[in-house]
Amino acid sequence: MNMLQLIEKKRDGGILTPEEIAFFVSGVTDQSLPDYQISAFLMAVLFQGMTDEETTELTLCMSRSGQICDLSEIPGTKVDKHSTGGVGDKVTPILLPIISSFGVPCVKLSGRGLGFTGGTIDKFESISGFNCSVSPSEFKAKIDTCGMLLGGQTADLAPADKFLYALRDVTGTVPSIPLIASSIMSKKIAGGADAIVLDVTCGNGAFMKDVESARELARRMIAIGKLAGKPVCCVMSSMVQPLGHMVGNVLEMMEVVEVLSGKGPDDVKEVVLTMAAEMLKMTDAGKGKSSEELKSRCLEKLKNGEAFNKFGDLILSQGGKLHSDGTPVFVDQPFEVMTVHAEKDGYVETCDALEVGEASCLLGAGRMKKEDSIDMGAGIKLHKKIGDKVSRGEELYTLYTGTHSPVSEDRIDEALLKMGKAYSISSSPVNAPSEILDVIS
Ligand code: URA
Repeated sequence: MNMLQLIEKKRDGGILTPEEIAFFVSGVTDQSLPDYQISAFLMAVLFQGMTDEETTELTLCMSRSGQICDLSEIPGTKVDKHSTGGVGDKVTPILLPIISSFGVPCVKLSGRGLGFTGGTIDKFESISGFNCSVSPSEFKAKIDTCGMLLGGQTADLAPADKFLYALRDVTGTVPSIPLIASSIMSKKIAGGADAIVLDVTCGNGAFMKDVESARELARRMIAIGKLAGKPVCCVMSSMVQPLGHMVGNVLEMMEVVEVLSGKGPDDVKEVVLTMAAEMLKMTDAGKGKSSEELKSRCLEKLKNGEAFNKFGDLILSQGGKLHSDGTPVFVDQPFEVMTVHAEKDGYVETCDALEVGEASCLLGAGRMKKEDSIDMGAGIKLHKKIGDKVSRGEELYTLYTGTHSPVSEDRIDEALLKMGKAYSISSSPVNAPSEILDVIS
């Protein structure tokens, strides 16, 4: 077998055998294949696609390219969640304490943000002292003491995906449904969960820009789960505008605290409660119960403070600091740069998630390159969202940097330009978009 034959076969629309896929993944993992052949292969996949069987084989080979977490010591069904990425996505820090308050063990391995999308690890690291480096040997002890843990993906988890993703990023081959599906599912399978709930985001601020592509990605990941023996449920959610009102690390964690205190924006609650209900359904705690019943039980956990207390347990368990009222101590505080006001009366028609995400990144909340550091206090508060009535002179959005920000005036101007493009105001009423587009399992 040689790599040139594999590239030519895929280029001409052929279907690869499991042996050929295993050969490719092993050459990626041991770095015996040159980048130019891997890149050519990825481009052939982008144009020709892959069958469900090929995609599953690719996923399984990638998941076995490093360590597979063994969670069998932890009793009960372990359900993992993942989002295909978005702007203002603060679902995990709210979801984990809710699920854990039902006595369901949660081992969540998350990533860092890159580009306009934020990362859960960065958000937790905006809490003073919070340590996301939890090794698999510590999982059981953490679950025994706190019922949940939030860890970073170790270098040894699906390393083939790491190499492939880095190449896809620089060869224009990220937006391929089989490559995205196998990338996500390989890490979830290697993470050792018994069942998986995926938030498949859709809109300008997501990888999948339209509903049909999002639906196809969801279908693919469910098919992989079926062939791999792991039940998968996909919640399709809208990412035409950011989730909630806050974008940025400390800012989003402040909104997390609000929601965990029984307040906070409805769109965030809707996604969290929908995901929570689907996760619970896969465990003994929710088996046979309806989504509506589970959602209202989860809402009760937000209102009665149980989820808030669990959040505090998680922070303390991983070295983070709390104030005496149980709220987290942050490493920095957002510093207001300026607030922009509406220039006319009307209704917010667009609040483009991609433009807001990029503007927030320019202020220092995200990374342009993997090596970049983050300004934890930076970000944007959206005072108005799609469908909101607005009067001339009312606050539209506020830009923040951290208290010791290194951001230049030029960058702030660029961020303002993007925010100007993100917002449009219509003179006639506009419907707010539905947060949940579908639930597929
Ligand atoms: N998230 C991933 O982990 N991989 C992709 O390819 C896209 C989103």
